[in-house]
Amino acid sequence: MRQTRKVLISYYHVILNVLTLLVMISKGSTSVGVNWGTMSSPHLPPENVFQMMKDNGFDKVKLFEADDEILGALIGSDIEVMLGLPNYMLREISLDPQAAASWVDANVTAYCYDGGVNIRYVAVGNEPFLQSYNNSFLPYTLPALKNIQEAINHAGLGSDVKATIPFNADIYNSPASNPVPSAGDFRPEIHDLTIQIIQYLYSNDAPFVVNIYPFLSLYGNSYFPLDYAFFDGSNKPLRDGEYLYTNVFDANFDTLVSSLRRAGYPEMKIIIGEVGWPTDGDKNANVQNAARFNQGLIQHANSGVGTPARNGLIDVYLFSLIDENAKSIEPGSFERHWGIFEYDGKPKYELDLSGMQENKGLVAVQGVRYMLRRWCILNPHVKDLEELPKNVDYACSHSDCTSLGYGSSCNHLSAKGNASYAFNMYFQLKNQNGWDCDFSGLAIVTDDDPSDDECRFPVMIAYGHSMVLLHKTLLNILLAILEGCLVFLLVIS
Ligand SMILES: *[C@@H]1O[C@H](CO)[C@@H](O)[C@H](O)[C@H]1NC(C)=O
Ligand SMILES: *[C@@H]1O[C@H](CO)[C@@H](O)[C@H](O)[C@H]1NC(C)=O
Ligand SMILES: *[C@@H]1O[C@H](CO)[C@@H](O)[C@H](O)[C@H]1NC(C)=O
Repeated sequence: MRQTRKVLISYYHVILNVLTLLVMISKGSTSVGVNWGTMSSPHLPPENVFQMMKDNGFDKVKLFEADDEILGALIGSDIEVMLGLPNYMLREISLDPQAAASWVDANVTAYCYDGGVNIRYVAVGNEPFLQSYNNSFLPYTLPALKNIQEAINHAGLGSDVKATIPFNADIYNSPASNPVPSAGDFRPEIHDLTIQIIQYLYSNDAPFVVNIYPFLSLYGNSYFPLDYAFFDGSNKPLRDGEYLYTNVFDANFDTLVSSLRRAGYPEMKIIIGEVGWPTDGDKNANVQNAARFNQGLIQHANSGVGTPARNGLIDVYLFSLIDENAKSIEPGSFERHWGIFEYDGKPKYELDLSGMQENKGLVAVQGVRYMLRRWCILNPHVKDLEELPKNVDYACSHSDCTSLGYGSSCNHLSAKGNASYAFNMYFQLKNQNGWDCDFSGLAIVTDDDPSDDECRFPVMIAYGHSMVLLHKTLLNILLAILEGCLVFLLVIS
């Protein structure tokens, strides 16, 4: 009798999941969000990037700053936006409701009209309780959240736009003595403050946002079982009462679910603000692992199965859309390689966003122009290499050499290959200016692509300063000609 009931219940679950899936199919698509960080130089034009997002079916974007040009490019688009307010503004916004009101006026209200930008969330701060910030944002975070939400409410947008805070996942954990998700709770030092924030979010029907990084679990711990970071089964599942965990994402998510339940908020809506896998800069950061992780995640999130402790769809924003070559690499060289797309908007690997094995492949950003196909390398004929290390250091410290490090895509290069790579990165970042390929006479420009199968020597895209400069020069020439004509007309009349 008992047995049959169990069977019935699991049938019931299967039917529920199938129904969820059918509903999703009938809606025509699933939902995938993505973070677009812009700590890179130069930027791709935002309108082309958003077109690419649409072409591929990304329907939600998270932005770290309110940038006029980027928000302007979103006008008329139905892409859902989570708009960030950076940490450095928290103090001012918390102390001055007027500053909060101005921020909301300029960056939210100005875009929230019919046919404007579909702003749904304001992310107040970014991981403000990260332990490395030494508690410096603790006093400002909740007051800033309140001031922003109140300004939104005052603007009459309170039911559409919710302020929230993207937290790092280390604000909760399970005790070392009982390391299972069901024992999870918020870190003691910030426990009460976190609960106050949750109360405020909950009363306002806003979600709890958290960033979860299985890659970092693996990066920080050489004993971490590799396959437990992914979604295709684990040799060593974690048992927690009646639940079996085969991946660390679910275990982490359910540690949060338990922490919320313990605080009295078992139904609190959860959004994963960042989750992803880098492709370079560490031995586990490569295209194969990134594709395996992100594909597994998308299928899992959109399957409706959910985690052992919470069934249903999982709302995720992948990290990230495009590589950022100017991000701080203090956490590790991989920081500049989280993109699903390269700096030039080309997909790095296949990813099926619908999760239905359609294998359409990702569409690149269209209309990207490149500078000339030429590279700056170490002159193979120079004999005296005494000045080389100094010049390589200079090139690397002013560009991005993260692909040269241990476990990275260009780590197999010789010392001379390293020098060429460094010179080229600097030269390209400087828009291929001839005088930026000198390095005490050690470097020359070549038309022969020095790339090999694994290590790519990029060519700069023709956007940003160089194009602007070109346009300015053209304009000046035209003006000069016009002036000449005028003078001529004056003289002959
Ligand atoms: C709008 O947001 C940007 C970026 O966060 C900020 O620099 C700017 O000051 C904001 N505008 C106002 C009026 O606060
Ligand atoms: C936090 O404290 C450490 C040690 O006192 C210091 O090295 C670090 O710069 C501080 N970080 C911040 C963000 O204040
Ligand atoms: C190339 O540079 C990287 C990063 O600086 C270094 O780890 C590697 O050992 C270098 N290779 C050679 C052959 O010098």
